[in-house]
Amino acid sequence: MTGRKECGIAIVGCGTVGGATASYLVQHADRLAERYKTRLVLRQVVDVNWDHARKLGLPESLLTKDIDAVLRRDDIQIVAELIGGTTIAKAVVEKALSAGKNVVTANKALLAKHGAELWALARKNNVTIAFEASCAGAIPIIAVLTEELSCDNIEAMYGIVNGTCNYILSAMTQHGQSYADALKLAQQAGLAEADPTLDVAGGDSAHKLAILASLAFGGRIDFGRIYVEGIDKLQLQDIQYGQELGYVIKLLAIARRQEEGLSLRVHPSFISTRHPLAWVSGPFNAISVYAENSGHTMYYGRGAGGAPTSAAVIGDMAAVALGTAQRKFEELSIFPDVAPPARQVDIGSVCGRYYLRMQLEDKPGMLASIATILGRRDISISSVLQREPADESSLGVPVVITTHPAREADIHAALEEVNRMDSVKAPCVCIRILEEHPERTV
Ligand code: HSE
Repeated sequence: MTGRKECGIAIVGCGTVGGATASYLVQHADRLAERYKTRLVLRQVVDVNWDHARKLGLPESLLTKDIDAVLRRDDIQIVAELIGGTTIAKAVVEKALSAGKNVVTANKALLAKHGAELWALARKNNVTIAFEASCAGAIPIIAVLTEELSCDNIEAMYGIVNGTCNYILSAMTQHGQSYADALKLAQQAGLAEADPTLDVAGGDSAHKLAILASLAFGGRIDFGRIYVEGIDKLQLQDIQYGQELGYVIKLLAIARRQEEGLSLRVHPSFISTRHPLAWVSGPFNAISVYAENSGHTMYYGRGAGGAPTSAAVIGDMAAVALGTAQRKFEELSIFPDVAPPARQVDIGSVCGRYYLRMQLEDKPGMLASIATILGRRDISISSVLQREPADESSLGVPVVITTHPAREADIHAALEEVNRMDSVKAPCVCIRILEEHPERTV
C-alpha cells in the first residue's frame, strides 16, 4: 500500500523467543496490518547460525550475520535483542541505541544489572527500551506498573516469576518427587536449561524482581543487595511436613515497603493453601500486587516459552510503533536512569514467621533447651511436631517447630546457637512462612 507508515524491525538472536517472534510476525503480518495504521515489517533476522531460522522456514532474504549493516539501515526503527546474557547482548543493545534504534528486549539479567546506564543511553539518543518480555513472559505486568498502577501507592508485590522453579516445586509437592527427579522432569519438558543454576538458585527471579520493584516503587535498585536463596537445597521431607501443617512451598520474589525502607528478597516460602498464590502450579507465573487505592490485584499467565514470551515482545513492538512506549519513557520518572536510589533494607530486619526443622538427639530436656534459646531472643513457638522415631538414626529425630512473627536477625542468631549444640545432629532447616498481605484500601 503506498503512503502507508511502516515500522521496520530487526530481530537479533533467533533462538526460542527470537524464532517464535520472527515466525509470528511473518505469519500474521496482514492481520497485524489491519489493527495498526503503522505496519510492523520484519526486515532482518540476525544470528551467527541459521539452523533454527531455516527449520522455522523463515525467508532466506531476512537472514543476515551482519549486525552493523542492519544498524546502518534507515528503514529499521526497532532492534529486538533476543540473545540473552550480559556480554554480547549488552554490546548489541548499546550499538543499537547509539545508532538511534528503539530496543525491544526480553533480557532481564541485562536490565537488572545495567538498566540505569542503558536507559540513560536510550534517553541521550531519543529512543526507548521496551522490556515487557523481560518479566513473567506473557503477563503484561510492566504495562500494569507503568500505566494503570503507576498512580497508586504500591505497598508490596509477591511474585512467582520463574516457571522452571514453580514446575519443580509443583512436581515435588503434588507427586512426591525428589528435587533431583523433578529437575530432570523440568529439563525433559524443555523448561530447565542444561545448566539450570540461574533458575534454581534464584538469580533469574532476582533479575525480574529488580526490574519490577524499580517500576513499582520508583527507585533505582541495587541488584547486589537483593537477598537471594534458591530452591536447590530444599528437601522433600520439609515440603511434606509443610503440607501437613497446611502450607504449600513457592519460590517467591518479594518487594515490600517497611518503615525503614524497601525489603527485596527471593526465597522459598511456605504459604497457606488458601493463599491466592497457592494454586499457581507448574510452569505458570503470577504476581500479586498490593496497593493503597486498588487493593489486591493479581496477574497470572505463562512466564516462559517461545510463544508466550514472543507475545510480550510483539506487544512491545506495537507499543513502539504506536509511540506509547516512547511517551511513557519520556513522561514517567520511575526509570532507573532518572529515579533516585531506593532505600533497601537487609534481610535481618524483616519480621515474619518461620518453619524450623531440627535433627535432635532423643533425650530428656532437648526441647526445653531449644525453647530456652528461642525464648531468649524473643522468638515465640507457635507449634511443635515430633513423631515416634521409626528407627535409631545417627541423624537424630526430626522436630519441626513453627514460630510466631520474629525478626530474621534473631532467628539467625538463635539457629547459630542451636547448631553449635552437640545433640543437634544436622544444621537446622529454616523456611520462611508468608502470611497473606493485609489488604488496606482507603
Ligand atoms: N527460565 C525462566 C523461567 C524464563 O523458567 O521462568 C526466562 O526468564
